[in-house]
Amino acid sequence: MPNQSWELGYHLRSPHNWLNDPNGLCQYRGQYLFFYQYDYDWPTVDQKAWGLFTSPDLLHWTYQGVPLEPSVPEDRHGVFSGSAYVERGCAADGGDRLRVYYTGNVVDPVVGHSPKDFDYVYAGREQNTLTCTFEGDPAQGVTFGPRKVLMRNADYPEDMTCHVRDPKVWAQDGKRWMLLGGRHTDTRGTCLLYESDLDDGISWTLSHTIDSEYPFGFVWECPNIVRLDGREYLAISPQGLPRLQDRWFNRWTPGYFELPEGQRVLDTEVIDERTFVQWDYGHDFYAPQTFVDDAGRTILVGWMGTFDDHYTSVPDGLDWWHCMTVPRVVTRRSDGRLLQNPVGELEALRGKAHVLQGAVTVEGRLADIMLTDVQGEGALTLDGSFEVFFERGRLGIRYLDETSAAGRKDRSIPLDTLSDLRILVDGSAIEIFANNGAEVFASRWFGPEKDDLAVSSTFAAHGVAYPMENTMAQMYEQAASQAPVLTMPGWNQTIPH
Ligand code: FRU
Repeated sequence: MPNQSWELGYHLRSPHNWLNDPNGLCQYRGQYLFFYQYDYDWPTVDQKAWGLFTSPDLLHWTYQGVPLEPSVPEDRHGVFSGSAYVERGCAADGGDRLRVYYTGNVVDPVVGHSPKDFDYVYAGREQNTLTCTFEGDPAQGVTFGPRKVLMRNADYPEDMTCHVRDPKVWAQDGKRWMLLGGRHTDTRGTCLLYESDLDDGISWTLSHTIDSEYPFGFVWECPNIVRLDGREYLAISPQGLPRLQDRWFNRWTPGYFELPEGQRVLDTEVIDERTFVQWDYGHDFYAPQTFVDDAGRTILVGWMGTFDDHYTSVPDGLDWWHCMTVPRVVTRRSDGRLLQNPVGELEALRGKAHVLQGAVTVEGRLADIMLTDVQGEGALTLDGSFEVFFERGRLGIRYLDETSAAGRKDRSIPLDTLSDLRILVDGSAIEIFANNGAEVFASRWFGPEKDDLAVSSTFAAHGVAYPMENTMAQMYEQAASQAPVLTMPGWNQTIPH
């Protein structure tokens, strides 16, 4: 029986088995729709589909099964990542229609599999761009109409490998635009920019590729555009950055480039890779997606997991891998840095505040801890097992016992001053926001099995710790009782060894 203290109460996790990227994030007909890469027979079978949770308020979620599964030859080995685009007034009832764009993955193990090309980079892989629509009430569940193939590998530029994926679609300048992540044949990560008529979205023409001046990773995945305060950012999830002293600790590191003043993604062909800023320094963060909600907020959700051989997310037989971060509101600081802070809605889950002076016990394993007016150095410790510290000019996290780290190592970044710290603790998921969300860490922590959380702090600060309400328990129970059944065989079963 896995440790019950690791269960999540306000983060979205896979109902069973494997979850990765958030997909198709949007607000549609009064509901937030959070799709995600779901591999519900992992590790027996590798077959990516889109699972879905819906919510009217970003707090109370409904499990909506798996609305997008491999169903046509062009996506038969996986419905890979993609985005949502709300077509205003296009539904039969005069309301809005939801259109999603995604990558249909196909692999031919006989053609492609070789020790020199283990990931089907140069042969044996199709990455098709597909679309489909839905126009009902998402609170009642989502069923997509027929899939339409928009582009195949032969349609992408000639100097692309078989790796072109993760369409992000948005409207700007009276047109519809699509960013795809890719990998050039000379093993450089890149983005492809396509355009379509605003009212079309079916027929796409290549505008240009967006490249770094010097090589920056071997593939760019999950591209996004962020537009705030008149400035534009290109966000990517690059693979293949080297691990450096103070950054890019993970095997793969997502981040963003701020474009120079007045420059738009649409006009950008070359980017200065030295301007790359990493979104999050934690162990468990990759493939974030952003969207703009009806209130105009730019909201980011990341996959709170990663692929790393050094650590695990399923110690002691936990039967679900990974979760998503809480929704984070992204704002722009005057120097261009993007700040990330949990959506205000989460504050409604707070119980009675405990003033944090020295030590407090928070009832339950879910907490929202705030330190403001921080003066100087200190450390905040959870159950004598996990620590957030600011010492000798470094902000970081420390695992005090090996079991709770499940292979993770301590890490820290240089920081001149710490003014505030917010720590979301949700069973085994921890998100740390420092200096108004300028420095963020998302990491898993597999702490002791206990009913309550012991919080102690040596910081000179104004400290408060709130217990948080669990809004997920019932939903996860229901999801577990509705485990999906695989309808098409997954591809990795057939790889010849
Ligand atoms: C990112 C990613 C995407 C791809 C998806 C497949 O984690 O590799 O590029 O579409 O995962 O699950």
